[in-house]
Amino acid sequence: MTKYVIHGGRPLFGEIDISGAKNAAVAIIPAALLVDGVCRIENIPQISDVTLILNILQDLGADVRTVNRTTVDIDCSHIRNARVPEELARKIRASYYLIGALLGRFGSAEVPPPGGCDFGGRPIDQHIKGFVAMGADVDVQGGYIHARARAGRMQGTQVYLDIVSVGATMNIMLSAVLAQGMTVIENAAKEPHVVDLANFLNSMGADIMGAGTDVIKIRGVARLSGGSYSIIPDQIEAGTYMAAVAAAGGEVLVKNVIPKHLECITAKLLEMGVAVEERDDAVLVCRTGNLTRTNVKTLPYPGFPTDMQPQIAAILCLAEGTSVLTEGVWDNRYRYVDEFRRMGAQIQVDGKIAVIEGVEKLTGARIRACDLRAGAAMVIAGLAAQGTTEISNIYHIERGYEDIVRKLSGVGADIRVVVTPDAGKQAQVG
Ligand code: EPZ
Repeated sequence: MTKYVIHGGRPLFGEIDISGAKNAAVAIIPAALLVDGVCRIENIPQISDVTLILNILQDLGADVRTVNRTTVDIDCSHIRNARVPEELARKIRASYYLIGALLGRFGSAEVPPPGGCDFGGRPIDQHIKGFVAMGADVDVQGGYIHARARAGRMQGTQVYLDIVSVGATMNIMLSAVLAQGMTVIENAAKEPHVVDLANFLNSMGADIMGAGTDVIKIRGVARLSGGSYSIIPDQIEAGTYMAAVAAAGGEVLVKNVIPKHLECITAKLLEMGVAVEERDDAVLVCRTGNLTRTNVKTLPYPGFPTDMQPQIAAILCLAEGTSVLTEGVWDNRYRYVDEFRRMGAQIQVDGKIAVIEGVEKLTGARIRACDLRAGAAMVIAGLAAQGTTEISNIYHIERGYEDIVRKLSGVGADIRVVVTPDAGKQAQVG
């Protein structure tokens, strides 16, 4: 078993570099399927979700070459296979992007239903609604989603999303870049990674307008050709370290960020009494005094991100007064609350609302990461807590945070990875 052991109660000082955005990378890598030639993708985060999606492309027949730690060259020109391997695809939510990319490239796709964090139901009906409107037949047989463009190529049309969905917006975009005619996505998601995918595709020769607004127009082109592209910094990784400083105290320069993407997070930290100073490509976060209560509701971008909800909850546990947290995106994203309670947090959950009564201190405990962002929030709680916190199931955290232990140790946190191979053998510390 591998776990994180944190001795909490130390303020953080120094600088942290932010990696490339996970949720952009896991869409841009499958988008390489649409490109005729070599794509060089830079600023790729070294996380297990990225390794998985690269492995899936290789399994399909892509030539993937590592250029350096954060850069890969991907050549999908020779792929002839549109069936995605089941064991790999079921481990990751973003495998659904292979449906749109393969439909765009071959006019057909066979992809297992996606995996990923468990927040209650995670339907993909809006993705399918888009593919069907664009002339595909989609059904499920033998545990696979089978999608086939009736005309052999996707047909541009108007798609209105009933719900603002990041995945559906990006998946329909992928299936539309090589389609016949113009596709218009209405009520589209506006997240930074939606814009990043559009910028990547445009840099390879696509014709996409309006990404970042709620109407995206994609004029189909005959071919995309190779080029190089650098992925944006990770908004949520940056927000997580900002939250860590808010909880543990100290002063940290969070570097290689786009401050505009962080405004929704910065606004809430300011309300809580944390100082945040924007620089060109960095934010300086400083917390010395007490934390003040606030209310937070998660919403699609530019609202407060649901992927920061557990991390902000960790801070609110220590803020003076009563805070109300409302989850506006997922049905069940409070599964971590029981673990926080083991550390002394006072939280009541009723459906999508959590009422958090601030306490003077959290105390270290043995807790279990139940998903990616909840796991990151447990690290934050451990950094702020008195005593020792042990977090198990850290593979969830490593799906989305590159080198979290090294980055936090670099600003003075006492956090280690402890590996216990099996009962009876002595623990290794690394
Ligand atoms: C993406 O998931 C992210 N994952 C999630 O981040 C993030 O929480 C979410 O967007 C919202 O920002 C990736 O990018 C890989 P959605 P996605 O489609 O695309 C409903 C993380 O921690 N919905 O925007 O799957 C859905 O149930 C992960 O990095 C439908 O009803 O989310 C939810 O309530 C966790 N039908 C809402 O829309 C659909 O067809 C938003 O989901 C699709 C979604």
